[in-house]
Amino acid sequence: MKHKLEYINSELKEIKKYNLYRKMHDSKITGAYITVNSKTLINLCSNDYLGIVQPKISNKQNQSSSRLVSGNDNSFRILEEKLAKHKSQESSLIFPTGYMANLGVISSLVRKNDLVLSDKLNHASLIEACKLTNAKLSIFKHNDMNDLTHKIKIKAKRKFIITEGIFSMDGDFSNLNEISEISKRNNAIIILDDAHGDFVIGNDGKGTANHFGVSKKLMPILAV
Ligand SMILES: Cc1ncc(COP(=O)(O)O)c(C=O)c1O
Repeated sequence: MKHKLEYINSELKEIKKYNLYRKMHDSKITGAYITVNSKTLINLCSNDYLGIVQPKISNKQNQSSSRLVSGNDNSFRILEEKLAKHKSQESSLIFPTGYMANLGVISSLVRKNDLVLSDKLNHASLIEACKLTNAKLSIFKHNDMNDLTHKIKIKAKRKFIITEGIFSMDGDFSNLNEISEISKRNNAIIILDDAHGDFVIGNDGKGTANHFGVSKKLMPILAV
């Protein structure tokens, strides 16, 4: 059986084949200029191409448009490297809000013919992200592993279990040990929103997955 995350590599390969793969390059903005790869150029791809706003910003991080276009100050990359190390992961990607992280991550990974199993008490942003995907959405009773075991039997191309680490409303833990067992038996992918566990519990604040010793089995969303 193919590894459950293998489809991501296949899709990335396809995107690269058509030259549609987008990478972020470090850049430094100074007024109407941008420095990329030690070359300083007139910045014509920003939302501030006259450089009117930049001098008024006292912050050292200057952005003139999205990170993909001309706003990838290297401080973001440094922060992402530190966060990846903190989570013992290969890489990380920061989003401006938790809501955006959930929308971005879930709508990128989940497809129409997939099944999403979402805890009843998951944050509204997780539910909205699931709806965006048009996948089959099945809500299991809060932390109820019998209900999850029953609902995960629904036929689908891929299966995702989405849960919070520590639930925002009740402050209780999700049953991550059992969830990882159920996901293993059903070849499902776990997405964990650890907005309330990160930097709070686990070794050195590594979060809920670390607390339960299942970090390597999940795809954690770190809400920054
Ligand atoms: C578990 C969880 N995920 C996501 C969010 C959304 O985060 P943000 O308010 O940064 O958009 C919240 C907000 O409280 C949350 O509790």
